[in-house]
Amino acid sequence: MAQLIDGKKIAAMVREDVAAEVQQMQENTGSTPGLAVVIVGNDPASRTYVNNKKKYCAEVGIYSEEYALPEETTQEELLALVRKLNEKPDIDGILVQLPLPKHLDEKAVIEAIRPDKDVDAFHPSNVGRIMIGDYHFLPCTPAGIMELLYRSGIEVSGKRCVVIGRSNIVGKPMAMLLLHQNGTVTICHSKTQDLAAVCREADILVVAIGKARFVTADMVKPGAVVIDVGMDRDENGKLCGDVDFASAEPVASWITPVPGGVGPMTIAMLLKNTVTAAKLHGEQ
Ligand code: GUN
Repeated sequence: MAQLIDGKKIAAMVREDVAAEVQQMQENTGSTPGLAVVIVGNDPASRTYVNNKKKYCAEVGIYSEEYALPEETTQEELLALVRKLNEKPDIDGILVQLPLPKHLDEKAVIEAIRPDKDVDAFHPSNVGRIMIGDYHFLPCTPAGIMELLYRSGIEVSGKRCVVIGRSNIVGKPMAMLLLHQNGTVTICHSKTQDLAAVCREADILVVAIGKARFVTADMVKPGAVVIDVGMDRDENGKLCGDVDFASAEPVASWITPVPGGVGPMTIAMLLKNTVTAAKLHGEQ
């Protein structure tokens, strides 16, 4: 029987810390951290994420502004908004919700965000800073996972870590953060041969591939820590993760549930990054 890593509880603890920092900042400087959230089009999942981001900003005392643009927004219009937010003094962090509609160039939009306001840590300059271990912001989902491990007392140093998935948002930065903590890290992807055997070597297995219940008990080393980044729907439309929880849980030592594992951490770390940005802007 694995111990459950309770992301809801740990995220609430992080939010409490952030709220205390915001209050301290207001007492010291009279200013409040500000986040701008930009959403383009009508993707229902993106709408839910954005609503949650606004809700938790309000809870911890961060000022937030939403910019909801229509599906047919042009690249130039979106870039003009980003440039305006770059110069807006009450805005410390800018988040452009991804994915963007197909006709827009995500890469160009990310590169237009001022790196000191890039609370997603997606700008190439911030990605490079993470690579060399000299950073202000960490991407929210991998940072949230490191926080889950840390607050659960799970040591990374010297452990075999396997990350399934190589996205710029999760897999690649995740591998780098585990490496920073002296893990021995392998990144797996769709071309990996004998994936199950590689996974079975993992003391810490992080799964971020977006395939419902992909990781089964036979891919989990007895006693491993299993972190599930997935937010999928099964054949009956039920919300589930990338890990087959029912079969993996008896084999693992620690495991994250879906929902209530990694998900709540992502927003908590975004709030933390927004406070970091405000500090960078001199609102100590
Ligand atoms: N879409 C899914 N996850 C994220 C995220 O962490 N940041 C942004 N901007 N968009 C996302």
